[in-house]
Amino acid sequence: MQIKVDQARLSSELQRLAAISDCPEPPPAVTRIVFTETDLQARAYLQTLLEDAGLKVRVDPVGNTFARWAGSDASAPAVGTGSHTDAIPHAGMYDGTVGVLGGIEAIRGLQRAGFRPRRSIELVAFTSEEPTRFGIGCTGSRAMAGLFTEEDLARYVDADGETYDAVRKRAGFTGPVRDCLLPPGHYHAWIELHIEQGPELERAGLPIGIVTAIAAPATLRYTVHGEGGHAGAVLMARRKDALFAAAEMVGLIERVVGEVGSPDLVATVGMLQVHPGASNSIPSRVTLTLDIRDVERSHRDQALERIMSAVQAVAGRRGVRLEQETLNWDPPAKAGQEVLAAIRKACDASGKPYMELVSRAYHDSVFLAQLAPMGMVFIPCRGGVSHRPDEYSSPEQISAGVEVLALALAELAK
Ligand code: GLV
Ligand code: MN
Ligand code: MN
Repeated sequence: MQIKVDQARLSSELQRLAAISDCPEPPPAVTRIVFTETDLQARAYLQTLLEDAGLKVRVDPVGNTFARWAGSDASAPAVGTGSHTDAIPHAGMYDGTVGVLGGIEAIRGLQRAGFRPRRSIELVAFTSEEPTRFGIGCTGSRAMAGLFTEEDLARYVDADGETYDAVRKRAGFTGPVRDCLLPPGHYHAWIELHIEQGPELERAGLPIGIVTAIAAPATLRYTVHGEGGHAGAVLMARRKDALFAAAEMVGLIERVVGEVGSPDLVATVGMLQVHPGASNSIPSRVTLTLDIRDVERSHRDQALERIMSAVQAVAGRRGVRLEQETLNWDPPAKAGQEVLAAIRKACDASGKPYMELVSRAYHDSVFLAQLAPMGMVFIPCRGGVSHRPDEYSSPEQISAGVEVLALALAELAK
């Protein structure tokens, strides 16, 4: 079977989606935070494409969108594909969207080729892959796997102190979160198409990466409680400056990561909030996030334990109080053999050379792996750049990924 990807159409759909953005910079800089008006506009646009492709759409209580192309055997578990359309502040226009709009194009390509699936093929646009608003990512896929509960709906709050539950309901997504659970055997197999977000494919000059595993992510939030005061009037020896303490902690995090010596271990302090935030006021409270990952869960956990005791020691010595909250602490995920075989076969059939690699970024597929054999198809992105407005994959690179995705879906759905 030959899949002819409609490159021009897909490019224009990606551009159109990119224009639905809260970023003050001109497109393609994208900011699309979950449950905002912008997110809802993007969802409405997506809905038109799904209906246009003749798919049956269902939206679950947290806003995960499912679109089904019914197979001839309605009782057989479906083959799933998809990704996310939310975007971090000042993002590019390909992270996630290539897997959603590219997934639709894969289905349209199969339809045009006259393919008739035995198993249904189901496209998913996940809610909130990005952790921007609530501190936790992949809430939609977690809910499908039963790992995001009623309790979590109330526990996770945004910067305005609003709960996930209140915000989702205002956006129009209601119902018990347990209804998001997918029953065992819902999916026969799962494949996500995504940009690599790293440089390996470009360096190797290869159009396709086959993901064998996804690195284990964890995120912690630390709040340092010190003592505020007048920046001129309080002498240094009497201070409990929350930011000087936090700065020492941040430096220690970098040192511990170096000392653990795992080449795959990465740690990021990506958010720092200083209270009250005046140049002539001693910081009384600082909140910071730690994102830490490794392909080997034990390396990550070993580093985390050392970080946790090192930052406690700093707090003790400086007389500040340290609060620690775990936002997520997830396992790594491994691809399923049958899915890997289907993707390899799709590459061979379409003449696309590939390499196998691990994903250092996380994806909803981490949680789909708990529901079904999982696989991911990566395409190159320029310079390995992602989570930046200059993120770029060419129409030809995207097309190659869509073609492989379509053939692999067909193989698994036949
Ligand atoms: C996903 O966006 C990640 O942070 O890996
Ligand atoms: Mn991302
Ligand atoms: Mn992504």
